[in-house]
Amino acid sequence: MLHILSASQFNQKELYEILNLAHEMEIILNKGGSEMARGKILATLFYEPSTRTRLSFESAMIRLGGKIISETDVNFSSITKGEVLQDTIRIVSGYSDIVAIRSKTVGDAQLASQYSSVPILNGGDGAGEHPTQALLDLYTIFKQFKLGKETLEVSFVGDLKYGRTVHSLVTILRNFEGIKINFIAPTEIAIPEKYVQQGDKIFTDLSDEILKKSDVIYDTRIQKERFEEFSDYERLKEAFVFDPEKVNKMKDRAILMHPLPRVNEILQTVDVLPQAKYFEQAQNGVPTRMALIAKVLDFF
Ligand code: CP
Repeated sequence: MLHILSASQFNQKELYEILNLAHEMEIILNKGGSEMARGKILATLFYEPSTRTRLSFESAMIRLGGKIISETDVNFSSITKGEVLQDTIRIVSGYSDIVAIRSKTVGDAQLASQYSSVPILNGGDGAGEHPTQALLDLYTIFKQFKLGKETLEVSFVGDLKYGRTVHSLVTILRNFEGIKINFIAPTEIAIPEKYVQQGDKIFTDLSDEILKKSDVIYDTRIQKERFEEFSDYERLKEAFVFDPEKVNKMKDRAILMHPLPRVNEILQTVDVLPQAKYFEQAQNGVPTRMALIAKVLDFF
């Protein structure tokens, strides 16, 4: 049984298989979907807010002809009566064929996988990982560049300490040759050491040089909900703001990515610029998650 728990579980061959399958799913999607998951049920257990991850998982399942059951508010879950996650998972995996889970606690998806009779998909575990987001991010990069065949400079900007999408994407990018990595964040929310490798560059300022030389800028939200002190959030929340003046310094073919939601770190006036890729990136969630559903259900 294949669970999707961490970006570190994939090798290059598996990543190319997922990318090619996501491409096939995009073709299927454009033709109106498929019935390959008819009779199958996806359960979505989301104990932290979500728009894109939960709805794109659900859309992906429906586009494959399957059905969904959903628990979207922890206040209406028996977890609030004191039920432990292990028991919830034992029960819900008996009601469904796949479980996608998001929770506040690092390691919950891993824990769920130990008690589940069906595949678990990690839709984000606190400040830990968000591997399915990283796969759709990789698919977005794959559609724009010759991944593994051309040299790319990827710059991660924003909350790199708590940013689970960054943790997962940087881990996945290590599988490909020719990718230079820059991390740009205030020291309080710098990238944790375990994600840094020799050759990476670490900055506290977003310089014009970084803007001009990056092929991919992966911006992230400063996450209010992860700070213990609100004053720290207030001090850091506008550390980096992308406006048209900054984005116009990027190369014509470069892309500005963001897992979304954004708050004020990318101005809406940037949305019309050719480098702005974040809405297309979010749409790539559907074919990528169709591919992952098909893979864990062993259709391919
Ligand atoms: N990118 C992402 O995880 O978005 P949601 O929080 O809306 O699911």
